[in-house]
Amino acid sequence: MGSLFVRGGIPLHGTVSIQGSKNAVLPMMAAAILHSGTTILKNCPRISDVLFMTEILKSLGAKIDWEGHTMRIDCASLHSWKIPSIYGVQMRSTTMLLGSLIGRMGKCEMPYPGGCMIGKRPIDLHIDGLKALNVQTEERTCAIRAETKALTGGSYCFRGKSVGATENMIMAAVFAKGCTILSGCSIEPEIVWLCRFLVNMGAKIRGIGTGNLQIEGVRELKDSEFSVPSDRIVAGAYLLAGAITRGTVILEDAPVEEMGSILSAYKKMGGQYEHSSGKLVTNSGKICSPLLFIETEVYPGLPTDLQSQLMAVLATIPGNSRIRENVFEDRFKVVADLNKMGCSIAVRNRDAYIHGVSVLHGAEVTARELRGGAALVLAALAAEGNSCIQNYHYIERGYEDISRDLALLGGVCRRGDGDPEENNEIQE
Ligand code: UD1
Repeated sequence: MGSLFVRGGIPLHGTVSIQGSKNAVLPMMAAAILHSGTTILKNCPRISDVLFMTEILKSLGAKIDWEGHTMRIDCASLHSWKIPSIYGVQMRSTTMLLGSLIGRMGKCEMPYPGGCMIGKRPIDLHIDGLKALNVQTEERTCAIRAETKALTGGSYCFRGKSVGATENMIMAAVFAKGCTILSGCSIEPEIVWLCRFLVNMGAKIRGIGTGNLQIEGVRELKDSEFSVPSDRIVAGAYLLAGAITRGTVILEDAPVEEMGSILSAYKKMGGQYEHSSGKLVTNSGKICSPLLFIETEVYPGLPTDLQSQLMAVLATIPGNSRIRENVFEDRFKVVADLNKMGCSIAVRNRDAYIHGVSVLHGAEVTARELRGGAALVLAALAAEGNSCIQNYHYIERGYEDISRDLALLGGVCRRGDGDPEENNEIQE
């Protein structure tokens, strides 16, 4: 499973460039199977979720080659519509193949999705939406089967916000006969990027960036090339790594226009920043203000994917803060491990009550999901002494090489095979 050793107490200073976005590239890879030809994706992050997705696409008949961070996906001879059950537990993003497999093959069978365990994560909205496009679905004990005799455009209004269900409906509608009208759509930047990517392939989508999308079915797509945008969550996490160590961090290629809510929270805590010539220059030296109340929301609100990392920072600001988690019902799993490092956080229902302390201490802790794992890395950077974060594989799902990136900022971390005794090696 692996681990990450971190020597804490060193303020971060330096420049790091932000990798391509996990949540943007995964739906693009899924959408590539709609086209019986070649799709080239540049700036792909080489993270384990992307590698899982390449394995799944290959199992369906896609040919995939890498050159650096460029991925070439050839789906000319896709032959299968069944996602092998072994992939179900590994990654929730298998769900996003539902729409594209239906679009390309007219049917699909997949195991129930896995991914990070951060709540119940039902898929009722995905299933419901597809029905409006003349797709019949059958839920079996361990798998979902969907089939259509003819994909037909229709109207559908989402009764709850879902990024994944919105993406699935867009992909399914690309080849549906006639016009599909979707309302109540999520408007996260990754959905906007998926639409731009599909339009670049020849899809007809109007209303991009709004909650109301109109998709005119087309008969085919064309070969295309697209650059994956920078990861707003990784950028936010590195901004917060600077904040928790009270350092000065420069982020190259950070998607600042997509980071309004986290930058606003950063400023309220006392952080200072400037954005010019593609660089986000931050100074966390004056951070000292707790946040009385802040809550996660759908975009453009505070992303749930940055909640744990922000909580770690607030835990180091003397005074009382409170965070409410509105998106996933079970996203405070990291609290016990943060408290092990000296944080003082209590959870009641959807609220985390944080009593900021002035010193954290290194400890052996365990990542239980990707974003909580990143929060533990942040806490370890600020803590006195060394920490060992077990279950590194969760962090690899979203970070290409977090120790490389943090080293560029002057942080001291190293990958290990999970044995906390190895920790001694990074003591000087
Ligand atoms: C995506 C992101 C994830 C992010 C989340 C919210 C990817 C690969 N993952 O996940 O990093 O945290 O958006 O911004 O892009 N829900 C239902 N029924 C459904 C679908 C969802 O009730 O059919 C609920 C979920 O349980 C959750 C909420 O809706 O409470 C939001 O989920 P959703 O937006 O679908 O998240 P994902 O697409 O899974």
